[in-house]
Amino acid sequence: MNLPSRDHPGGVAADIRYVTDVPYIAGFTAELAPEWLDLVATINGFAAPARADGFAWCELGCGPGMAPIIFAATHPEGEFHGIDAMPDHIARGEAVASRAGIGNLTLHALDFETACGRDLPQFDYITAHGVYAWIDETAAASLRRFIERHLKPGGLVYISYNSMPGWASDGPFQHLLYALAEDGAGDSIARFAAAAEAAEKLREAGAAALAASPTAVGFKDERAKRPEAYFAHEYLCPAWRPRYVDEVRRDMAAIGLSPVGSATLRDNFDSFVLRAKAREALEAIADPDRRELARDYFMFQRFRRDVFGLSPRPLDDDERRAGLFATTFALLRPPSLVEYKMTTEAGDLAFDNPVARGLVAKLGAGPRRLQDCLEPGADAQDLLANTLSLCCSGAVRPVAARAAPVDRLNTVLLEALDANNETTFRVMPHGTALRFDGQILVALRDGKPLPDKVAPWVEFLNRVG
Ligand SMILES: C[S@@+](CC[C@H](N)C(=O)[O-])C[C@H]1O[C@@H](n2cnc3c(N)ncnc32)[C@H](O)[C@@H]1O
Repeated sequence: MNLPSRDHPGGVAADIRYVTDVPYIAGFTAELAPEWLDLVATINGFAAPARADGFAWCELGCGPGMAPIIFAATHPEGEFHGIDAMPDHIARGEAVASRAGIGNLTLHALDFETACGRDLPQFDYITAHGVYAWIDETAAASLRRFIERHLKPGGLVYISYNSMPGWASDGPFQHLLYALAEDGAGDSIARFAAAAEAAEKLREAGAAALAASPTAVGFKDERAKRPEAYFAHEYLCPAWRPRYVDEVRRDMAAIGLSPVGSATLRDNFDSFVLRAKAREALEAIADPDRRELARDYFMFQRFRRDVFGLSPRPLDDDERRAGLFATTFALLRPPSLVEYKMTTEAGDLAFDNPVARGLVAKLGAGPRRLQDCLEPGADAQDLLANTLSLCCSGAVRPVAARAAPVDRLNTVLLEALDANNETTFRVMPHGTALRFDGQILVALRDGKPLPDKVAPWVEFLNRVG
C-alpha cells in the first residue's frame, strides 16, 4: 500500500491526491441505476426510496459522466447530478449531454470538500463507483460529509471499492507499479506503461512476489483489454488503499448509514456464493459486520459494491414480495445466447429449467414487470427464484418501467466514438446500456453488412433496443 505522506510528482495534484493529468475512460456502471439500487433494497427487505413524485440522484467522482448522462436521458422524471474534480471530465460530459439535449442533468467540476458547501438538493440516491479506495483520508472524509449533508432519510448510497483480503497477494504488485512509475518521464499513461513493462521483466526473471500475484501473472493479457488511461487511474493513485468491509461500515455508521446489501447481486445470497461448510462456520459469528468481514475471507473478496441506507424502512414479507413482482426486468442478450448457469466462489450453479427458459422467452420480447410474466397457476416462488438467478448471472437486469427516447443520445455517443477507444455503449430505452465494439454499432447504423456471428445481436437490438 502506498504511503500517505509521500510527495507526488507528475500527474497528481498537490491538493487532490489523485491522477489528474490524463482523463479517465468513459465507463458505464449499470449497478448505479435507481432500479438496481431499489432491487438491492427490496431483496434485502428494505423499502426503496419513494419515486412517484420524482427523485434526485447524484454520482460522486463521476468521471466523464456516462452513467448520469444515460440515467438522466432515460429517467425524465428524475433530477441528476454528477460531481468530479477534473474539469476536463465535466467538460466532456457536458458536451455529450448538451448535444443529446438532456435537460435534467447538472455536472459540477468540484472536489468533494467544495461540493459539501454548495447549494445542492437532498438526494434519494448517492453513488460513488471506483472512488473510495483511490482517494486519501481527507477526501474520503469529505465524501462522507457530502453524503451526511445531502442524503434524504430513506435514501440509498452505493459505494464500491477495492477490498481486502482479495488484494492481499496483489498489493505488492500495485505498490511496485506505483513506485516504478513515480519518477518516470511523461504523463501518467507513459509512466504507467514504462512501469508495467519493467514489472513484467522482473516477473519473467522470477520475482517470487510477482509469481504469487494473480494480477501480475495475467497483467499482459489484462492490459490488452482496456485503454491505458484505465490502468493509470487504477494503479497510480498515491493514496490507493483497499478497504476491509468492517472499516467501511464503521465509516458509514458514523454518518448514520446502515448496510442494506450488495449491488453485486449474487453476493446477497449466501447459498450462491458460500459452500455449506462456510455457511456453518459463519453461523458462529453473531455480529453482522464481523460476519461480513469473515465472509469476505471465504470469498477472497477483492471488489465490493456496498449499498447503505439512511434509516431504511424494513419491509414485511408481503411488501417484499410485492416489491419484487412489481419490478421491471430486461433481458440483456439474445435468448439463444443466455447461459443458464454461473460460476461463483462456491462453484458451478445451474438453473436450466422450463421456468427460467419461459421467462427468457417472455423478456426476449422486451422488458416486463415480473408480475406480468407469471402464468396463471404457475409457482410464483419458482419464478422469483429463477429471475433472481438470471439477474445474478448477468443475463437479466432490473430496469425502468417506462421506455424513454434514446435515439438522439445513441447518435451522439456514436459520433463521439473515439478512434482510440473502440467500444461504446448502446443506450436502451428502459434506462440501461450495453457495451459493444464501436465498429458493430457503426455498421448497424450505416446498414453495412456484419459478420454472421453477430446476427443474433442485430436481431435483438432491432427488436428491443
Ligand atoms: C476511477 S475514476 C471513476 C469514475 C467513474 N465513477 C467511473 O466509474 O467510471 C475516479 C474519479 O474520481 C474523481 N475524484 C478523485 N478525487 C476526487 C475528489 N477529491 N473530489 C472529486 N472527484 C474526485 C476523479 O477525477 C475520477 O474521475
